[in-house]
Amino acid sequence: MERRDFLRTGVALGAGIGAAGVGGVGILTGSAHAFPKRSDGPLQLNSNENPLGLAPAARRAVIDGIADANRYPDVSRVEFIEALAALNGVRTENIVPGCGSTEVLQMAVQALATPDARLILAEPTFEDVPWYCGPLDYRLEKVPLDARFAHDLGRMQERAAAAPGRVLIYVCNPNNPTGTLTPSAEVDAWIESAPENTYFLVDEAYYEYCEDPGYWSCVKWIADRPNVIVTRSFSKIYAMAGMRLGYGIAHPETAGLLRRYIGRNNANHLALVAAVASLRDPELIGRSRQANTGGKQILCDCLDQLGLEYLPSHTNFVLHRITGDLRTYRTRMREHDIFVGRPFPPMLEYNRLSIGSLEEMERFTEVLREFRDNGWV
Ligand SMILES: Cc1ncc(COP(=O)(O)O)c(C=O)c1O
Repeated sequence: MERRDFLRTGVALGAGIGAAGVGGVGILTGSAHAFPKRSDGPLQLNSNENPLGLAPAARRAVIDGIADANRYPDVSRVEFIEALAALNGVRTENIVPGCGSTEVLQMAVQALATPDARLILAEPTFEDVPWYCGPLDYRLEKVPLDARFAHDLGRMQERAAAAPGRVLIYVCNPNNPTGTLTPSAEVDAWIESAPENTYFLVDEAYYEYCEDPGYWSCVKWIADRPNVIVTRSFSKIYAMAGMRLGYGIAHPETAGLLRRYIGRNNANHLALVAAVASLRDPELIGRSRQANTGGKQILCDCLDQLGLEYLPSHTNFVLHRITGDLRTYRTRMREHDIFVGRPFPPMLEYNRLSIGSLEEMERFTEVLREFRDNGWV
């Protein structure tokens, strides 16, 4: 952060706390942007964050929680785990908190590593899991998405069957960067028939955005199958990306294995209390979904008008075609103060755009139309 920005944020934050202290107004009343936004600058449509910001109840919980921030988060951690167990219809021993869901992905990769282990994953997909495999003995096998932009489970299964030892299957569903689904019935069919040495790491970071009837969670497997691990995130629908919180759900035996690789006291107290308050807000998911649908509509209307294809999105981002070179496109967007997604080889003729607020999407589409006028897309 620039020093100037830091000062601006610091001063206004102090003022906000003052206001709360004299009657709880200002930051606690629920206005989405009552905190000054660091993003006064460029539009940040690059990291699939939630433009609504922390839920009002979560903001209050953070302010109140500061009083206990000098203590280790024993109580808030238990409350968080109990809330998640209730939410998912599982037991507390099934829940493994993470400093973001990415920490749980990392625990899984480390816990399941063997000298002959293979990671089988889609291409393109979210990059963290192969990245965590880097220092370990995994052999990576990438299988292109199929014609539906779903995981090609048939080909992945063939690869798994040919492997002599431990296999870790990474299923990102819905998938990042495509936003597409792999039908849950197909995932279930493989899990049902898979041998014990085939582990499924099912990344459900965008689970709450997806309302398709052909999609459901893999949590249903964890009571009986130690070879299934599900991960979830508070960074997306719960708008807590900066607070770093996620969790894994697994059979007690597997959850125990994951915990051998956990950072002790890994989830911080303020994130935990914000999460519990968010889970208690019955309208949060509906609010986030509605805002996302509105923003997506603005984007898709514009893409339709410009004749730029896009993939059906079940998430808070859309992968759409551009014309010309992605690097040039990204540079030009940056020159217009807009950050867009990174390259996702081999789909280099596409841009991944995160859904921002309605105003942000209006601004983005205005710029995209300008690009068309210039013959750039
Ligand atoms: C598919 C997927 N999994 C995991 C993550 C990481 O989420 P978290 O912020 O919970 O670590 C992301 C972040 O963009 C993601 O897209």
